[in-house]
Amino acid sequence: MSNWTREDMPELSGRTVVVTGANSGLGLEATRAFARKGAHVVMACRNVESAADAREEVPGASLTVEELDLADLDSVRAFADTAADLGHIDVLCNNAGVMAIPRSETADGFETQFGVNHLGHFALTGLLLDSLREAPDPRVVTQSSGIHANGKIDFENLHGTDDYDKWGAYAQSKLANLLFAYELDRRYDELTSVGCHPGYAATNLQRRGPEQEGSRLKLAAMTVANRIIAQPAEAGALPMLYAATAEDIEGSDYVGPGGFKNMRGAPETQRSSKRSYDEDTAERLWSVSEELTGVRYD
Ligand SMILES: NC(=O)c1ccc[n+]([C@@H]2O[C@H](COP(=O)([O-])OP(=O)(O)OC[C@H]3O[C@@H](n4cnc5c(N)ncnc54)[C@H](OP(=O)(O)O)[C@@H]3O)[C@@H](O)[C@H]2O)c1
Repeated sequence: MSNWTREDMPELSGRTVVVTGANSGLGLEATRAFARKGAHVVMACRNVESAADAREEVPGASLTVEELDLADLDSVRAFADTAADLGHIDVLCNNAGVMAIPRSETADGFETQFGVNHLGHFALTGLLLDSLREAPDPRVVTQSSGIHANGKIDFENLHGTDDYDKWGAYAQSKLANLLFAYELDRRYDELTSVGCHPGYAATNLQRRGPEQEGSRLKLAAMTVANRIIAQPAEAGALPMLYAATAEDIEGSDYVGPGGFKNMRGAPETQRSSKRSYDEDTAERLWSVSEELTGVRYD
């Protein structure tokens, strides 16, 4: 395990970093860390009011808040149009996500976990490609989860219409994150695309499923587990920060915490599941994602 900390991040003055889900949890911690190193951070959030509150917490930082709802492709396109005015984007952190929620659909009729976690970020990255290419050494970091190892891309039932399992859908979306991250890296020499995972970190992520199910028991269990087992969000953000800024990162790396069961600790490069490196599945997922989102990469 390395002993890398956020203090080891390089100076980021003059760099522009876009973070999705920047108002909460890992995205907020990463935003703070990027900003403290001098980056201009674009906080891409569906809830702009809470993002604005978060902005107040980092005095003197160069932050802008822009609305982005990954569950609505019109919102993704509107965000990309606004971002085009920013000039170059040095780092895009595809971080936002939802976990193990009851079945619902996005504005475009996608199952929400697959739609937000994977398809929304797929569309966003494609629409920001020109701005990324304007940067001298652009990076795309996509936040996955250790749970991706349980995932399978079920092309016959991508949206869980036949049979929905909330954890299966989450694992599928997190495997899709890695298939996408590695395929993006294979397709574009001019950028570095990396996957990461935070281990287990105490954030709002674990609340959303029980809240939407209306289960006070599960909510209480998640709260206790977060207090006892999880590492703080600040530590959970380290793999994303390392993936986004460390000099020894290479394309298609996968970064996660190197401590107990890879759930906590300092970041290191790791191997993800065998399925995540399957190039046939990655290519098929890419075509299906272009078809579904209408965003075609050149
Ligand atoms: N925490 C962990 O232990 C853990 C483990 C493995 C992987 N992860 C991954 O880490 C990432 C960040 O999660 P977190 O733990 O920081 O949870 P979090 O505190 O709940 O943050 C998730 C962020 O995603 C945003 N989001 C959700 N739906 C969105 C949408 N439709 N459009 C735009 N933004 C949306 C949330 O916005 P709102 O505040 O408006 O809901 C929030 O800002 C996720 O991809 C998650 O899968 C986390």
